[in-house]
Amino acid sequence: MNALTSHEGAVCIDGVIYRPEEATVSVFDRGFLYGDSAFEVLRTYGRKPWCESDHLVRLQRSCEKLLIPLPVSLDQLSIETALAVEASGFSECYLRLVITRGEGPMGLDLALARNPSRMIYALPLQLPAPELYQHGAVVGLVHSGRVVDGVTPYGAKSSNYLTNMLALNQAKQRGCYEAIIVDHAGEIVEGSTSNVFLVCGGRLITPPVEAGILEGITRKQVISIAHAMNHPTLEAKIRPERLETCDEMFITSSIREIVPITRVDEITIADGRPGPITLRLLHAYRERANLGK
Ligand SMILES: Cc1ncc(COP(=O)(O)O)c(C=O)c1O
Repeated sequence: MNALTSHEGAVCIDGVIYRPEEATVSVFDRGFLYGDSAFEVLRTYGRKPWCESDHLVRLQRSCEKLLIPLPVSLDQLSIETALAVEASGFSECYLRLVITRGEGPMGLDLALARNPSRMIYALPLQLPAPELYQHGAVVGLVHSGRVVDGVTPYGAKSSNYLTNMLALNQAKQRGCYEAIIVDHAGEIVEGSTSNVFLVCGGRLITPPVEAGILEGITRKQVISIAHAMNHPTLEAKIRPERLETCDEMFITSSIREIVPITRVDEITIADGRPGPITLRLLHAYRERANLGK
């Protein structure tokens, strides 16, 4: 099936709704040419974008870091997101918001493009199979370079995901579900599109923002839910040796929520089954998201 004809849903480009197969951007768009754009991925629960304001604020911060002026206000982006959800006709959507610096003549000079564009995709929500949550996933460590402190776009969710894509590819070739990226200092940072948590003695441990992670919106929710359940979170660097002694491990992301991890390469996490605290957090997270607060 042709990739375009297989798409359902709606795409809003600069305020105008299109069917996905009719939604196009210029070959001179710098998002395409240079990855010169920022994005967010979120999903709806009960047809409402979950944690929308957190995602919009992170998008704004990413644009600030990339020196891309936001073409419209966050309120307008929220209105257009609602229009895209409505136009999609789906009960629940995968949502992607992209701000690109727009089109312009070839060249790296930012001044070559002065009209940023916005795209909001409302597509079918494709969730992992329930077995992933029942049995947990196997992930692989990948030693990979990171955009760390001192590099301007550090912390921005820019559309240039090549490092993460190549890391994921390495992990997939070893039969793993996700790549867990290890930085130059040998410390665990995050997944290719997820944040990482360990549970040790009833306490959660997750790498700090300063480690060069994307400050996940799901991560923030999980820290708050765990706190309410009397499981404090320590934001600390994680060395791979820690995996041998931890009680539980999981990863988080907006679409996949909380995925239990049962093995990291050759290391089995505890008894090799999804941990009880992980499953309680997943239950509470879904409850909170479905309630919309
Ligand atoms: C590199 C990276 N880290 C973490 C996450 C999880 O972020 P969130 O919970 O906001 O979806 C993502 C999501 O795409 C990501 O790309």
